[in-house]
Parts: sequence; structure tokens; C-alpha cells
Amino acid sequence: MNVQWYPGHMTKARRMMQEDIKLVDLVVELLDARVPVSSRNPDIRAMAANKSRIVLLNKADLADEAQNRRWEEIIRAEGAVTALVNARSGSGLKTFGQLVQEACREKIERDRRRGIKNRPVRAMVAGIPNVGKSTFINTFAGRSVAKTGNKPGVTKGKQWIRLSKEVELLDTPGILWPKFEDEEIGLKLALIGSIRDEILQGQELALYLLGFLAEHYAGTIAGRYGEIDEKLPAPQLLMEIAKARGCLKKGGEPDTDRAAALLLDDLRSGRLGRITLDRAGEA
Ligand code: G4P
Repeated sequence: MNVQWYPGHMTKARRMMQEDIKLVDLVVELLDARVPVSSRNPDIRAMAANKSRIVLLNKADLADEAQNRRWEEIIRAEGAVTALVNARSGSGLKTFGQLVQEACREKIERDRRRGIKNRPVRAMVAGIPNVGKSTFINTFAGRSVAKTGNKPGVTKGKQWIRLSKEVELLDTPGILWPKFEDEEIGLKLALIGSIRDEILQGQELALYLLGFLAEHYAGTIAGRYGEIDEKLPAPQLLMEIAKARGCLKKGGEPDTDRAAALLLDDLRSGRLGRITLDRAGEA
């Protein structure tokens, strides 16, 4: 699939990430809790091979709570330090300091053995576009007492945000390119708004979503748009949504383009409820 990530963008993102990663001890990988598999960059493991790592499931407020718990368990079982968070409200981030301690235990102990005291852990945030990297940084920067400013020599031109005595965060996130291994991943990333809409037709996305909801979240459509027979095939269902919402063309025909846009907007804003597109155990 050809999205806004042309090879040139990807090469640049990779180069910048490789440069910045040299400056840090810890990489905080943000995933979208609604798509913990599809929002994962395939190369991050190799790039962060010698670094401590935390995997945060962000936008947990928009994802299915039962699925959140399962995904958290799965990621923890893989050996990663992880948590469910909402970077916008800050919920789940109070214990971030503890996660850092846990993820960097070896480094902290090594420093102690060598007699190095008070050297903060340096961290960077990384993730695919729109996953909430800037929000995460701003949430901390807003709280943070001091930005530490430039540190010539070691970190030329880089700004660090001091989160505590123990942790400093690079103020520019690492942008990772999404993976486009198959069409379904592309559809899911487009549904959550990580890939721009023009790339895929709104209707194609809406039909895929309706099929998905019928399978995993029965009652959602009727719950949101009123008495609609959810058993109808997706194209007809979209027409019913158009009628229910008064999306009509000049001649009175249902305007399925507008209905599709409305449906996608309702999904992304959480008005359809908390929905997880990558299913734990089925990935
Ligand atoms: P990026 O740097 O990774 O590209 O993402 P960014 O922080 O810009 O966040 C993308 C959008 O996701 C923003 O919404 C942001 O508010 C929202 N967001 C980030 N974290 C969370 C979260 O945990 N929960 C929810 N519900 N939303 C989150 P926006 O519509 O682009 O901007 P705005 O409405 O905040 O102004």
C-alpha cells in the first residue's frame, strides 16, 4: 500500500531515530491500545536492541477494557515493562518513574557498582504518527519544573525535559514508520486516523468497520443510530445509517459518503464506545 510514507520519508525517519537513540538509555515505545499489533514498528526491536525499553499502550481510554487487560498481559509475558496509559489526561502515568526504574534496573545497578551517583536515565519517546508522542511529552513538560536546556558536547542542540531527579526525556520524539505488511493493517491504521483518509476511500473503511463491528461489537450500530437491523449486509447498513442521520443527496438518495465520514468520526472520537481492532489472541 502506498501511503504518505515514501521511501525518502522512511529513510529520513530511520536516520533521525538512529541518531537520537544513541543519546538515550531507554526507549519508550508508544503503541495505540486499539491496534497494539498494527501500530508496532517492525524495526524498533533491532534499533533499540541495546537499550532498555518500555512499551506503553496509549489511548487506552478509547480501547476495549477487557482487551486492554489481555494485551497488557501479552506484552508483559513477552518480557517488556508495560502499562496502559492516556497521554492526554495523564492517567496511568503517575507510576512512570517506577516503570523506568524497573526497565533500567541493570543500568542503575551498574552505575552504582561503578560508583556513579545521580546520573539520570535518559529516555526518548518513539512511535508511529498520531499515536500520541507529542501529547505524552507535553503532559510531562507541562508538569516538569525545569527544562534542562542544552548540554554542549554530549547532547548538542538537544533539549531534555527533567521529569524527576532520576529521569530526563528528550523533547523530540522518534517518529517510526508504520508497517504495511498487509491490507488489513492499512485499513486499521486508517480507521484510527494514523494514515490519512484520502488514501483509502471512506466508504471502503466504513464497510470494513461495519463488518468488524458485526463480528465483535454487536449492538454498537443500533445503540448509536437507533432501530437498525444490524444483520443487514454492510452496504445496506451504511444506507440505513445515512437515512437515520438525514444524510441525503439532493434527490433524497442516502448519501453513503457522508454516512461513512460520520461513522468514522464517531469511531475515532470514541462515540461508538471503546473498540479494539487488533484482537488479543487472534493476532
Ligand atoms: P504524535 O505526536 O504521535 O503524532 O501524536 P499527538 O501527540 O499529536 O496526538 C495525536 C492525537 O491523539 C491528538 O488529538 C491527541 O490529543 C490525541 N491523543 C494522544 N494521546 C491520547 C490518549 O491517550 N487518549 C486520547 N483519547 N487521545 C489521545 P488531536 O485531535 O489531533 O488533537 P487535540 O484534539 O488534542 O487538539
